[in-house]
Amino acid sequence: MATRTARIDVHLTAADARADLRADVLLGLTSQPKQLPPKYFYDARGSVLFEEITALPEYFPTRTEAALLTAHVDEIARLTGATTLVELGSGSSAKTRLLLDALTRGGTLRRYVPLDVSETALREALDALAVRYPALALHGVVGDFAAHLDRLPRDDGSVPGPADRRLVAFLGGTIGNLEPGQRAVFLRGLRGALRPGEHLLLGAGLVTDPQVLVAAYDDAAGVTAEFNRNVLHVLNRELHADLDVAAFAHVARWDAEREWIEMRLRAERSMAATVNDLGLVVEFAAGEEVRTEISAKFRTAGLAVELADAGLAPQRTWVDPLERFALVLAEAV
Ligand code: AVJ
Repeated sequence: MATRTARIDVHLTAADARADLRADVLLGLTSQPKQLPPKYFYDARGSVLFEEITALPEYFPTRTEAALLTAHVDEIARLTGATTLVELGSGSSAKTRLLLDALTRGGTLRRYVPLDVSETALREALDALAVRYPALALHGVVGDFAAHLDRLPRDDGSVPGPADRRLVAFLGGTIGNLEPGQRAVFLRGLRGALRPGEHLLLGAGLVTDPQVLVAAYDDAAGVTAEFNRNVLHVLNRELHADLDVAAFAHVARWDAEREWIEMRLRAERSMAATVNDLGLVVEFAAGEEVRTEISAKFRTAGLAVELADAGLAPQRTWVDPLERFALVLAEAV
């Protein structure tokens, strides 16, 4: 079988990623309260743990979104007529294939452009897709969705035909990792990267029963706890730190005012840790909590306003029967 090598543009080198990690950890662990960005969960082990989370009985978002996609993907293909599918963040290959298959059935798709911080993950995904979709142009972008939207390829000279019509998929509810102000900046930036008539397909978790939400982020098997603590393993390895991972407990709380789930790591005793590569000694008080992730939940009306304010007009919104997750198709205006 002929194998093609996909084009991959690197806008975030290993050195850039390391500089970001150093700056984020220095700032986060010297802030009060302490915090660490969620993007550092996802090393090889963290990515495996996240895949396990998506299969947990308590973690409903992934399967709920997949059901919505399955039910409406042909309509999405028809409404967008997309020639290029852009996917932000490490999409699960199952959701990617649902979209690629529908856009292929619709007859418009020519190109797939995944954007991910991990070149390794991109290359693996693209190699598998090259075999399954031999007619599809593949163009990976190594970058951070919060920083490199202006680098998305527009028309690709290698694909002849009418002007590109791009559909940007941002699925899984990852938009919830951003605080409201960051969300507005992100959505505006995304709008700026699109031409009028191009589309965003957004997956977002909805505000629902707090007990259901907390269980989704604090599962009985303890997988989410391991996933949360994994960020400390990442710091120990990448920055030669000596954090006692076992001395931190997983905490998941619903913040009813801000309508987000907050994950934290709680120091179970007072301790000091050294982050060698930063020349930093960090003190933790007994019971002190480090914020590791917010996962904001939305109301469909609020989501529509946030999108419209960014110049992305909501065209269709699909919600599951239990009203826990929404898919919104929005058009750049
Ligand atoms: C991948 C960011 C969408 O917020 O639900 C899962 C990550 N954190 N369990 C989410 C996550 C804890 C997930 N996102």
